[in-house]
Amino acid sequence: MLAGTSEIEKAAEVLRAGGLVAIPTETVYGLAANAEDPQAVGRIFETKGRPPSHPLIVHIGSAAQLGDWAEDVSATAQLLADRFWPGPLTLVLRRGRRVPLEATGGLETVAVRVPDHPVALELLKTFGGAVAAPSANRFGSVSPTTAEHVRTELGDDVDFVLDGGPCGVGVESTIVDLTGEHPTILRPGGVTREDLEAALGYPLAVPATSEVRVPGQHPSHYAPRARVVLVEPEKIPTEVELARDAGHRVGVLLPPVLSGTAIDAQAIVPVPDSLDAYARGLFRYLRELDEQGCDLIIASLPAEQGLGLAIANRLRRAAGPRG
Ligand code: TXA
Ligand code: MG
Repeated sequence: MLAGTSEIEKAAEVLRAGGLVAIPTETVYGLAANAEDPQAVGRIFETKGRPPSHPLIVHIGSAAQLGDWAEDVSATAQLLADRFWPGPLTLVLRRGRRVPLEATGGLETVAVRVPDHPVALELLKTFGGAVAAPSANRFGSVSPTTAEHVRTELGDDVDFVLDGGPCGVGVESTIVDLTGEHPTILRPGGVTREDLEAALGYPLAVPATSEVRVPGQHPSHYAPRARVVLVEPEKIPTEVELARDAGHRVGVLLPPVLSGTAIDAQAIVPVPDSLDAYARGLFRYLRELDEQGCDLIIASLPAEQGLGLAIANRLRRAAGPRG
């Protein structure tokens, strides 16, 4: 059942008492705590099993509040906030005084965004402050896009789950660092590079390995239990056969160009033609293939334009070396 006013009030109470609330956003579900309460923020790291040096995103209720949580808000920052908030864009700026170092992993910068979800916005309004929230999954695993995913993964470790239905975007926010000389995309996400460049009027740098400037990055992230292997679309049928012969229970994310091709695998998810639909479904597909007992997932990268950039980034990270 979708959260109504009484659930939202309860969730705000839990936040005030230093508890953890799973919140729906348009991207993925977040594991939220009062951003100004270092102890509550500490519980986020414990619950996720995330190293405390990994900074969190501070979620605020409106662009008008930005100055309370960040310093030196430039004209560029204001332009992006006005254009894309509420929405799947996170801005990295100088840390404002209200943000404790616990939330930024000790950094003097802070990542801030206004989520575009009615339940999250209502909660932020009722609560009155800001919430620090990473994705509501255990460290390194696939981000949750439904309340059920959160309950299954975190169980009683989270004090309250606000159900806002399935997330509409399905991949995390785009992170843009505004603390350097030029804006830089640290993580591709729900706002496309093309949209950002159109708003700014100039091309943006995307580091070859994105998030390199983010401390404590691990190659494998967004990973299901099954190992993920990326191959060219035309090689999928042969790769599946080889893996099956080697005794693997193979799951396939079948790209649109192969739709209709007969493939003998443990489980097949036909990837939608539209990148919006693919992004919305991606993390759910990975979870479903795990649930169907696959130990190997074979997939191809979409063209890296529009949301394809974020989808390819998550697939590469899912296929990265495991620690
Ligand atoms: O869509 C999203 O962004 C979701 C929802 C819940 O809002 N949140 C999310 O949080 O993806 P998380 O913790 O899974 O990812 C946060 C990312 C990390 O890569 C972290 O390193 C980066 O934000 N980050 C946070 N603060 C930063 C900072 N000060 N400088 C650079 N990167 C930062
Ligand atoms: Mg995450």
